[in-house]
Amino acid sequence: MKVEFVAAVQDSEVLAVLVHDGRSLSRAAVAVDQASGGAVARALTTSRFNGKTNSTLVIAAPSGVKAGVLVLTGAGAEDAFDDLALEAAAGAAYHAVKTTGARSLTIDVGHLGAEQAARVAFAVRLAAYRFDKYRTTQKPDAIPSIEAVQIVTEDLRGAEAAFEALSAVADGVIFARDLVSEPANILYPAEFARRVKAMESLGLEVEILGEAEMEKLGMRTLLAVGQGSRRESQLAVIQWKGGEAGGQPLAFVGKGVCFDTGGISIKPADGMEDMKWDMGGAAAVSGLMMALAGRKAKVNAVGVLGLVENMPDGDAQRPGDVVISMSGQSVEVINTDAEGRLVLADALWYTQERFKPKFMIDLATLTGAAIVAVGLDIAPLYANSEAVAEPILAASKKVGENFWRMPLPPQYEQHIDSKIADVKNVGNGRAGGSITAALFLQRFVNGTPWAHLDIAPTAWANKSPSPTVPEGGVGFAVRTLDRMVADSYEA
Ligand code: BES
Ligand code: MN
Ligand code: ZN
Repeated sequence: MKVEFVAAVQDSEVLAVLVHDGRSLSRAAVAVDQASGGAVARALTTSRFNGKTNSTLVIAAPSGVKAGVLVLTGAGAEDAFDDLALEAAAGAAYHAVKTTGARSLTIDVGHLGAEQAARVAFAVRLAAYRFDKYRTTQKPDAIPSIEAVQIVTEDLRGAEAAFEALSAVADGVIFARDLVSEPANILYPAEFARRVKAMESLGLEVEILGEAEMEKLGMRTLLAVGQGSRRESQLAVIQWKGGEAGGQPLAFVGKGVCFDTGGISIKPADGMEDMKWDMGGAAAVSGLMMALAGRKAKVNAVGVLGLVENMPDGDAQRPGDVVISMSGQSVEVINTDAEGRLVLADALWYTQERFKPKFMIDLATLTGAAIVAVGLDIAPLYANSEAVAEPILAASKKVGENFWRMPLPPQYEQHIDSKIADVKNVGNGRAGGSITAALFLQRFVNGTPWAHLDIAPTAWANKSPSPTVPEGGVGFAVRTLDRMVADSYEA
């Protein structure tokens, strides 16, 4: 799909204009209304559409309007109109006509600024995302027909310049969505590593460590997770050097369990296919690094991905095994299905030891308990530092991703104390499962300012949560972390 900026409404099959709550017309909508002798206002009086976000009214374009079809798209309350309302309006306009047979859509936001015109283009790219590479046949009516989207702006240059950075963020989100949606027979650790290695063309430095190298480093808890798999475990280290030479980097660490059977503590068959997206944390870190490089962010950042497959076989680790992590701490593996924390233990330790970062943020589809705790639209956030937590929460509000700060209560530490080793990989029973997982990780950050995002609830959407997030792989947290970096570390 082609997305371009134009200076004036051109002949297009569909024209979309914004309408605010209470049927209040945007300037572009007023212009269309006047050109048509009040036809828009007349249509509005006979419709329940009143300008609420994520609602649209599609009408045959009245004479005087340069289009065949007119879409009125809800922009929400005028006094609460922000970036997110604009994105939703653009996304909803696209969805309203995407499969109608129309090939071109013009969105008239000529009354708004260049930044906002760019944001419309960004929203349309995110809204139009589909993962359909494995479909060989599709019902013709279900195939999107829109091939080109024009966005009207008075400042073409300004919009194009603003879209460069936003388009890089969209590339990152889309890259992450693709990774999340790929099945595990295609996307295993070495293939994930290859796709990340290919990001070197953007100016990123990517190192891939195999099992022999990780063995030398003593990454026994990560390797123990992958030892039951035919697929070799990998550690990907991605560096973006856009800041001061030699300056302390920001670090992002991702859980990349390409498939999680549970191992010997095997999961039930029902829903196990979901565990192809147990690499959502690593996907988000990859997408974030792509976004930072694509928009040439003025920071130093490093992404570390622990890529493994958790399988049961004759070589698999057993419940009760004790392994020595890279940190030197011994870990009793009570449940082989609590594998993400074992992967992250070594990845976090490696990251702080090698890079001495300003902070570490890890992302992981870590626990089903996170879903029980906060539901499917929110991701728990844990942090040992206000200075790390606050900018994440602030950025997340601006981009429409929901996090909720959770506690790291010292009195629960005893739940992960082992009788025969330094720590065990599960708490006592199911109580506070997302919290005890976070407490486990905290033992491997060595005092580094750190946050942990348990994205198990939000990495995958069974139903589209907003016009710019289709169902399937979400690419959750790419936008939040990109925005956090931009607002708090590049300014
Ligand atoms: N990958 C799962 C967590 C998960 C569950 C992610 C549902 C997304 C959706 C993780 O490795 C896991 O199996 N966790 C166990 C931990 C338990 C054994 C302590 C869980 O949540 O049941
Ligand atoms: Mn598991
Ligand atoms: Zn897992």
